[in-house]
Amino acid sequence: MKIIMLGAPGAGKGTQAKMIADKYGIPHISTGDIFRANIKNGTELGKKAKTYMDQGLLVPDELVVDLVADRVVQDDCKNGYVLDGFPRTIPQAEALDAALGKMGAKIDFAIDVDVPDENIITRMSGRRACVACGATYHIVNIPTKVEGICDRCGAELILRDDDKPETVKKRLAVYHEQTQPLIDYYTKQGCLVDVDGTQDMADVFAAIVKILGA
Ligand code: AP5
Ligand code: MG
Repeated sequence: MKIIMLGAPGAGKGTQAKMIADKYGIPHISTGDIFRANIKNGTELGKKAKTYMDQGLLVPDELVVDLVADRVVQDDCKNGYVLDGFPRTIPQAEALDAALGKMGAKIDFAIDVDVPDENIITRMSGRRACVACGATYHIVNIPTKVEGICDRCGAELILRDDDKPETVKKRLAVYHEQTQPLIDYYTKQGCLVDVDGTQDMADVFAAIVKILGA
């Protein structure tokens, strides 16, 4: 099963993608997590990506397309994967289609997690993320057992640099301009499905499972 998560920054793509990956036993591939890991490790890619991410801008297509094209052909992707945060522009979607086409494959579901802009800013300021394993929490909605420490792997949690309200506003603007057109793109391909992302996490997940099948 090949799945794409669509939705605004903070809509809950990462939260749901992890649950999908666990339930269906497929890898969760988050381009944002890949960039953050590269930033943490001080790689060239990380240095380049950081200048865009800190401003709430998208990293240029050429820095991300090959990365994903190389990832989805690895062995653990044989039974599918859930892509989180990719594609984010029409050229990225076209590049993904081209890469899949070569393997005679296609996307099965593009899941749009729908949350209005008003809800997003509150969510983001409370988010805490684990740079070690990618888990995300929320200080009110999804608190950890020990404050500031990841339940899953015990590493320290961070407030992402790009979760400041001004940067979140910029990311939302970039989303509407560059990423939202993908909703039409995947509607035309006949694989777009919508879920109401304002519900509780568990209800959002139940709606997704209903679509994907148990
Ligand atoms: P990325 O890491 O993908 O960030 P994003 O799309 O902005 O999305 P987020 O990770 O902020 O939100 P999410 O939808 O995953 O929500 P989450 O589940 O965490 O990208 C970061 C940057 O990297 C980009 O800005 C760009 O610069 C660059 N980048 C990455 N991919 C790229 C690409 N393909 N091309 C170019 N540039 C790229 O949830 C948010 C919060 O809400 C959490 O605290 C969570 O606990 C809470 N929450 C989740 N669900 C619920 C719920 N149902 N109810 C209440 N709270 C909830
Ligand atoms: Mg995310």
